[in-house]
Amino acid sequence: MQDYEIQSGTWTQFAAEAKSIREQVFIQEQRIAPEDEWDAQDAVALHFVVYATGQAIATARLLENHSIGRVAVLKSQRGLGVGRVLMQHIIQVAKQQQRPWVKLSAQEHAIPFYQSLSFQVEGESYLDCGIPHVDMRLIF
Ligand code: COA
Repeated sequence: MQDYEIQSGTWTQFAAEAKSIREQVFIQEQRIAPEDEWDAQDAVALHFVVYATGQAIATARLLENHSIGRVAVLKSQRGLGVGRVLMQHIIQVAKQQQRPWVKLSAQEHAIPFYQSLSFQVEGESYLDCGIPHVDMRLIF
């Protein structure tokens, strides 16, 4: 597998990369409205960006309430293990920070992806931004 570098930090540090990826994946590809994509949590979240040969190819954020969100890999880079490497890194950081669990709101198509990382479904599915979602949690 290719070498991936993962960096993390504040919105101020990573807004340029994270915005570009989320714009392509969520707004253009998934047709999520910009007013739903950008929220006040970005300013306080811990952001992660994956680089391959210097190019930013994936991102996600971790909130104070242990919620992982905005997990996005550029379309051309999917199915190569990038999402898995990114999630494993965030899980490791969350454990180091002595968080009791991490949770997320998974788009239904991604349930098997998160299950492969040991997340478990909690409750019924619901619509968010018109897309079916389900809550999932990984307890440490
Ligand atoms: N459905 C079923 N299985 C999936 C999947 C999907 N949509 N995406 C990945 N997987 C599986 C892979 O088969 C792989 O399993 P394996 O290791 O046994 O082969 C495992 O999950 C890891 O896959 P990986 O290559 O690391 O995933 P990825 O880099 O393609 O990233 C997403 C997965 C979901 C982050 C990526 O498809 C994406 O960005 N999608 C668009 C945005 C999105 O929907 N984000 C999730 C919001 S909740």
